[in-house]
Amino acid sequence: MKAIIFGAPGAGKGTYSTRLKTKLGVEVIAMGDIFRTQVKENSELGKKVQSYVEKGALVPDEIVVEVLKQHLAKVPNGSGVILDGFPRTLEQAKTLETILQLDIIILLDVPDWIIIERLSSRRICKNCSAVYNTRFLKPKIENICDKCHGELYQRPDDNPDVIQNRLKIYQDQTSPLLIYYKEKNVPIITSKTTDIDTPPEPLVEQMFEELKKLKIVN
Ligand code: AP5
Repeated sequence: MKAIIFGAPGAGKGTYSTRLKTKLGVEVIAMGDIFRTQVKENSELGKKVQSYVEKGALVPDEIVVEVLKQHLAKVPNGSGVILDGFPRTLEQAKTLETILQLDIIILLDVPDWIIIERLSSRRICKNCSAVYNTRFLKPKIENICDKCHGELYQRPDDNPDVIQNRLKIYQDQTSPLLIYYKEKNVPIITSKTTDIDTPPEPLVEQMFEELKKLKIVN
């Protein structure tokens, strides 16, 4: 399966793709996680992208495309892959077409009010990048990662002004890609969230059933 998980900032791309990874045994390439790791390590790439990521602005296409290619090259032959956070511009989508044949887009349709609630209470593991929420998906021990016992932190781009900026960039530059993919007849499955209390698991199960119906997975 070659898939894109597509949705606004905070729609749950990381939350659902990590669960689909476990369920389907596919690889996930998450652009935002890659950039945050590089910033943490203060690498050359990290220095180049830090100001964009912290302001919620898009990293220039040529950098993102290069990083994607490097990470795709590490995916074992025959493995499925889910792209989280790529493409975000028409230029990126056009480049992707030259390197990968997409089977499916998994679209997360979540209203802005739920996104804003969830992003303001999101916490991330400093060590393994697992995603939690202090209100909706709490770790077993406050501020400690269930998986690796790393400390949790709040992303600098999860403050109200930056969240608004990210949502606007999504509306202006990324959401039009859906029209592009519809015109290209790439199949799209939509997972719609209308209720803030719905946990991820039933939605992941629905995605799995849809993927089976389309014979994308067995
Ligand atoms: P990135 O990290 O991809 O940020 P984003 O798109 O803004 O998405 P998020 O990671 O904020 O949210 P998400 O959809 O993964 O939601 P999550 O699962 O955490 O990118 C960061 C930055 O990198 C960009 O701003 C840009 O600067 C740069 N960048 C990355 N890719 C780029 C590209 N292609 N081109 C240019 N620049 C690029 O969920 C959110 C919260 O909700 C969590 O707390 C979670 O626990 C909670 N939650 C989710 N679902 C549920 C549920 N069902 N029940 C309860 N809680 C839930």
